[in-house]
Order: sequence, then C-alpha cells, then structure tokens
Amino acid sequence: MFKNCFLTAVFVLFFASQAGATESVKRGVLLAAFGTSVTEAERGISNLAEETRLAFPDVEVRLTYTSNIIRRKLKRERGVDFPSPPEALARMNDEGFTHVYVQPMHVIPGEEYDDLKSVVEAFTSIKGKYSFERVALGQPFLSNPSDCGLMSAILARRFADLPSDKAVVLMGHGSPHEANAMYGEMQKALSRLKGRFFLGTVEASPTFEDVLASLKKTPCETVVLSPFMVVAGDHARNDLAGDEPDSWRSRLKKSGYKVEANLVGLGEYPEVAALFVKRVRELME
Ligand code: CO
Repeated sequence: MFKNCFLTAVFVLFFASQAGATESVKRGVLLAAFGTSVTEAERGISNLAEETRLAFPDVEVRLTYTSNIIRRKLKRERGVDFPSPPEALARMNDEGFTHVYVQPMHVIPGEEYDDLKSVVEAFTSIKGKYSFERVALGQPFLSNPSDCGLMSAILARRFADLPSDKAVVLMGHGSPHEANAMYGEMQKALSRLKGRFFLGTVEASPTFEDVLASLKKTPCETVVLSPFMVVAGDHARNDLAGDEPDSWRSRLKKSGYKVEANLVGLGEYPEVAALFVKRVRELME
C-alpha cells in the first residue's frame, strides 16, 4: 500500500514537472517610446502599442518611456507612473516572463537607443534566478539606408494627393549622435520623390536654413508642415507650427510662403504601424 502510494506520488511529480517544463515559457513584448507630455500627442505612441496588441493577442505588450524628464513630469503633474526600461524589465522578470522582446519606437539609433541597449545588455548578462532566458532588442525605424526607402515610400503614399504647387517640410528631432546621419540618408530617399519633400531637424543637421535653401530652388507657393517624429508633441506644436516668431511656420511665412500644418505623428500613420508590427514580428521569430 505504502509502496503504491509512493510510486503514484513519484509519477505525479514526474508528469507535473514535464507539464511545467512546457508551460514555463512566458513571452512578453516591451515597447520603448521616448514619451510625450502632450496628451493629444500620445496617439502616436498608443496607436503603435494598440496595433502590436492586436497583432499578438496571446502575448502581453507593455510600454516604457525612455525619457527620464518626461516620466518625472508625468508623475509630478498628472500622477501617471510610466516605468523606466530597467524598472519595466525588472518587473517582468519578477512576474516570471522568460522571453522578452524590446522594440523601440525611436526614429534613429541615437543616444536614447544606446541607453536602452545598455539596459538590455545588462539584463542579458544576469545569471541565475533573476535572469531571462532571452531578452532581444529590435531596431529603430531608420537603422540603415534601406529603412529610409521604406519610410519615404510611406510618405509618398501619405501625400500622394498633394497639388503640384505644394511642398512638404518635415521636422525631425536631430541629435549630436553619429546616427544623425540617417536624416541625411532620409533626405536622399525623399529627394528621389520628385523633390517635394524637405527634411530638417530641430537640434542638428539638416537645419531649417538647409530646408529653406532647397525650398527656394523648387517652384512652390504653399508649404505643408509635418512632424517627422513618432508623436506630434511639443516640438511639432511649438517649434514647427507654433505662432512664436522663431517657429518654422513664422519663418516660412516671413519668406513669403503660405503655410499649412499636418499635426500628425508618424506613429498615427497606419502604414508606419504596419511597419512597426512587422519589426516586432521579426524580433520574436
Ligand atoms: Co527635444
């Protein structure tokens, strides 16, 4: 009797551990955005997150903001708590996720990406019970010149109905980081589209002056301003399309152009969301 019970217990334990082994994979996606403190601009981020959730209904999709300034501002002003990347990963580890796929929403692999990468590498180096089986990091939207071709095709479709007397001026963020070169690559790709797209950045090159010089060589009366950022946030609403004298809108008006604004972040474009979901899928394969 005792022997039978003992054998049964051994079998139960054996099969329980086998079942446990197959169930022990818990996959999660962590989406990393720079963040925004402009509520209306959150659409750019939430659309990408929502499309990712729809594409992977069985996988938990979480969001982190990489900007310390934005996270602290949201906490202070609205009591909203967004986790930082190390905090989000530590929490996922504690909740038993074994495989985590970190996909950035950043445009270029600049400083924010480098910092995110160092966090992912740190988690990869952890051994023992606080480790993941796998942590993978995806690429930003523009990681190489062929990405610029994909993005310029999306913009071409987006502005396909633009009359021939109008040009599109795009505002990227810009960075002192070497990855800023991607904006030059992006302009090259855009220039293949009959020269109606001009890309400048707020903080680096190409500058607004570069944009204006190129614009003057193009026959056009009206300029459509559009952010080349995931969200149409503070930079789009103030530096690009704001009424202050040094905004791009004011400076273009002063140069004699009629100005329209398209305050839609890249993350709100369905085609950009599709590209983003494709990146997440490739990362998980
Ligand atoms: Co900025």
